[in-house]
Amino acid sequence: MVDDTIRSSDTVIVEYGPGTGSFTRQILPRINGGVTFFAIENNGPMAELFQREFPAVTLYQDTVENIPDILKNHDVAHVDCIISGLPWAAFDSELQDRLLAATIEVLRPGGIFATFTYIQSPLLPAGRRFRKKLDVHFSHVRASSMVWNNLPPAFVYYGTR
Ligand SMILES: C[S@@+](CC[C@H](N)C(=O)[O-])C[C@H]1O[C@@H](n2cnc3c(N)ncnc32)[C@H](O)[C@@H]1O
Repeated sequence: MVDDTIRSSDTVIVEYGPGTGSFTRQILPRINGGVTFFAIENNGPMAELFQREFPAVTLYQDTVENIPDILKNHDVAHVDCIISGLPWAAFDSELQDRLLAATIEVLRPGGIFATFTYIQSPLLPAGRRFRKKLDVHFSHVRASSMVWNNLPPAFVYYGTR
């Protein structure tokens, strides 16, 4: 997921919901010192654990909904790439709308939003709804092939703004 998402020209990269940091571990070796990278995690205990494991990563203990304000802490206009670990299929429609609106507000045209989702997501009403919202918000959306060795199997949606 991370390999397919980060481009060498990206200078601003954000991770949503890093949790235990499984994507962070893949992101860090792929970015250099000139890249602005930060993560947003809204669960307090999870954020503390994350910060202990990754003390050098800028982490905001906040909701992704606030990314437009969070971005003002950095001297940058837009985000090039967003890697999301959020459980979108567990969110109600209004929350999906608010999180996607905030995402579109900060992502530059041509920027990439990548989010993993479990195999069962297209079977769930909220998962189907999220897929339709991606089509509304992004100019191009594609799904990766299934990663069968993940438990449970998962795949990735890539949206290009
Ligand atoms: C599936 S888990 C994280 C997966 C992650 N890749 C890992 O290695 O643990 C989803 C994470 O998103 C966080 N989260 C959920 N809603 C959020 C929100 N609105 N803003 C920021 N983080 C959120 C949860 O607290 C949780 O840590």
